[in-house]
Amino acid sequence: MTRRVTGVDAAAAVAAAVVVVVLLAASCCEARDFYVGGRDGWTINPAEPYNRWAERNRFQVNDRLVFRYNKEKDSVVVVSQSHYDGCNATDPLLRDAGGESTFVFDNSGPFFFISGDSGRCQAGERLIVVVLA
Ligand SMILES: *[C@@H]1O[C@H](CO)[C@@H](O)[C@H](O)[C@H]1NC(C)=O
Repeated sequence: MTRRVTGVDAAAAVAAAVVVVVLLAASCCEARDFYVGGRDGWTINPAEPYNRWAERNRFQVNDRLVFRYNKEKDSVVVVSQSHYDGCNATDPLLRDAGGESTFVFDNSGPFFFISGDSGRCQAGERLIVVVLA
């Protein structure tokens, strides 16, 4: 059946298109919270290695990473790539030891997170996140 497009239908079609565009815009740019390690949190021997988890996800500017851990013996440290490679928490870019640490990505590019305890870092408690431009 051929359907005649009247003025009213055309206006309705435009309105529907506008709604779709608004929904796409809202879902595309809403900042998201990522819980590092899921229910395991920030620990040695996570169920899924942190970097494999990171590769499965898309991180964007303004997204947030939440680390949960035992503040009696652990911390989160943001470091350079060379300090990441060496599990070296000396001279960090950022450090938090409150037990629940949230980091917001202000720009795109790679970010390197390690435990402030080098033994824990060596045991797998470290993470690289690449934030998309
Ligand atoms: C850790 O980094 C500091 C500089 O931030 C450096 O002086 C020190 O030698 C490094 N430690 C190791 C074991 O590489």
